[in-house]
Amino acid sequence: MSVPSDSQRMEKIVSLCKRRGFIFQSSEIYGGLNGLWDYGPLGVELKRNLKNYWWRVMVHERDDVVGMDGSILMNRAVWKASGHEDTFTDPMVDCRSCKARLRADQIVEKKGAKQCPVCGGKDLTEPRSFNLMFKTYVGATEDESSVTYLRPETAQAIFAQFKNVLDVSRKKLPFGIAQIGKAFRNEINPRNFTFRSREFEQMELEYFCRAEEGIKLLEYWKEERLKFYGNIGIARDKLHVLTVPDEERAFYSKGTYDIEYDFPFGRQELEGVAYRTDYDLSQHQKASGKSLEYFDEETKQKFLPHVVEPSAGVDRTVLALICEAYSEDQAPDEKGKMETRVVLRFHPRLAPIKCGVFPLLKNNEQLVAKAKQIADLLRPHMFVFYDEGGAIGRRYRRQDEIGTPFGITVDFETLGEKDSALCDTVTLRERDSMKQERVAIKDLANLLVAQIS
Ligand code: GAP
Repeated sequence: MSVPSDSQRMEKIVSLCKRRGFIFQSSEIYGGLNGLWDYGPLGVELKRNLKNYWWRVMVHERDDVVGMDGSILMNRAVWKASGHEDTFTDPMVDCRSCKARLRADQIVEKKGAKQCPVCGGKDLTEPRSFNLMFKTYVGATEDESSVTYLRPETAQAIFAQFKNVLDVSRKKLPFGIAQIGKAFRNEINPRNFTFRSREFEQMELEYFCRAEEGIKLLEYWKEERLKFYGNIGIARDKLHVLTVPDEERAFYSKGTYDIEYDFPFGRQELEGVAYRTDYDLSQHQKASGKSLEYFDEETKQKFLPHVVEPSAGVDRTVLALICEAYSEDQAPDEKGKMETRVVLRFHPRLAPIKCGVFPLLKNNEQLVAKAKQIADLLRPHMFVFYDEGGAIGRRYRRQDEIGTPFGITVDFETLGEKDSALCDTVTLRERDSMKQERVAIKDLANLLVAQIS
């Protein structure tokens, strides 16, 4: 079997995402809108499983982190104080020949001359700053006084609410505030499927600490985040940690790591882990005139905490999960002839559907009734898919292709027709190895829950 090239692999992934209902182009029936995507029935499950697992690990399994859910629109003063209104820009270049709008860093240079990557033209404008925030107006008047922006990151809501959350949670340093939510950036050149989108979700933690703990916690969070990616099934050798060099780091950051993943289209950032010092809180304290200081009861001192921020993209991680899971192998068809099998090898805890339940024959009432009973038995514990259509081998393949880790087949042995010792047992098939074992129906829920949680 020939191994698909990286671009063929990416094409297959994009096509599978549409065909099986993971990801669709937004507004597709009207020709779409560049950089915007909709998640279909399976994509939404995968995304939800990722967010739930992040929340579990970052909030529920710790006693030093609390959550919040901020609004997308905030007072414009937030974006002035944070620096986004003045500096959240990308350098943009126009090609005068084909009218393409390009990010300056995407311009190619051939034989010493700058060229448009779209048409090869050399008639390019000088780079100019383009603010990535989407502007909007709040209320009925559309003038300067009603301007604000769709948030370009979730983090600022956490800084703006720092004092309220501190007061109600009564946490002592170091402690964190976590948030998952939408962010919007008017990217000049959205590309690589969902990788660079104009609307996306972030999972961000702002972990507040004393200045002297910042560097140590930066290392700690980098390691924690690497562990997280391992626990969702991303191979360690496809993850890389880039130490962002001084000249590329935000001026207020004392250290930033990018966690990168080897996508089929190249090595790209999944998450940033940054030590942002006390920059954000001090900016908001200055601009709002409200104290955002922390009072240390032991030393009786007041000071602005520093912060370490692991900031991950939901959509990029979903894309990495799909790229990592996509595989093709050889498996026998109904007649024993080898065929190519497409499998999404998701970690069971991330898989959109956990278990397929199949009666061997759809026209046998007893088999169908038993299979439906088993699906109902499992439904309180996991997302189950009942399928009675087509040959059993085809039904397995359909579930393999969407990454369902387990398949349960109800056959005549389940009904006790062949061997009474096998009554009320089923065949449990594992997706990756395709191995099958006989399991008692009463043991199914415990056995599966242990593997998906
Ligand atoms: N609060 C810090 C912050 O927003 P960032 O590096 O600009 O930092 C964090 O963004 C993460 O958000 C990125 O690592 C990436 O996963 C995700 N992200 C940023 N821009 C994105 C885009 N246009 N499309 C999809 N995900 C994006």
